[in-house]
Amino acid sequence: MKLLIATRNRHKLSELRQLFDFPGLLLVAADEVSGLPEDVVEDAETFAGNALKKAWELCRASGLWTMADDSGLEVLALGNAPGVYSARYAGEHCSYADNNAKLLRELTGVTDRRARFRCVIALCAPDGREWTEAGDCRGVILDAERGSQGFGYDPLFVPEGFDRTFAELDAETKNSISHRGNAMRRAAARWGGLLAEAALRQA
Ligand code: IMP
Repeated sequence: MKLLIATRNRHKLSELRQLFDFPGLLLVAADEVSGLPEDVVEDAETFAGNALKKAWELCRASGLWTMADDSGLEVLALGNAPGVYSARYAGEHCSYADNNAKLLRELTGVTDRRARFRCVIALCAPDGREWTEAGDCRGVILDAERGSQGFGYDPLFVPEGFDRTFAELDAETKNSISHRGNAMRRAAARWGGLLAEAALRQA
């Protein structure tokens, strides 16, 4: 049975292939299936809403079981902003550097620097069933960028229990504690049985 992954990111796909290595299940990326919408507008008010929206649009277009994720940063002192607006915090078509600069401006003089990354993964079945699982990673926001690895807010975020930013950690260490890693591992543990069963039924 094919499981469509709503991503064009090869790195995410290879991580998911390792985690979702269940009998009879073949993970395919969005660019390996023809006739899918190029982009899904992420305009829901929650991570779960966006993940489900993406998964449903591609599930309906393909007729395949589909998995999608949405993630972002929540900063406690900013009322959980930027949240679902993380990618476009400094405006449409802004860069990661623009977002980081805006975050530092908003936090000028703020001593409570607590934040968390959140990720929600959604799974949709062509028969109308849906599931979600979440993962998070708590930490603090620095007052200047540090490190050059990763992407997005990584240079400003120090995870709990570490003294280095996500951008100073290697990819394997980040993945072992990250919101996305936690959500993916939880989803694989919770959904393995039902995916293997669906694959068996389709075989
Ligand atoms: P998406 O879920 O991949 O669309 O991510 C939404 C936005 O959240 C990204 O553009 C980043 O700004 C931010 N984000 C999500 N995950 C991470 C992460 O692991 N590190 C840094 N920024 C992240």
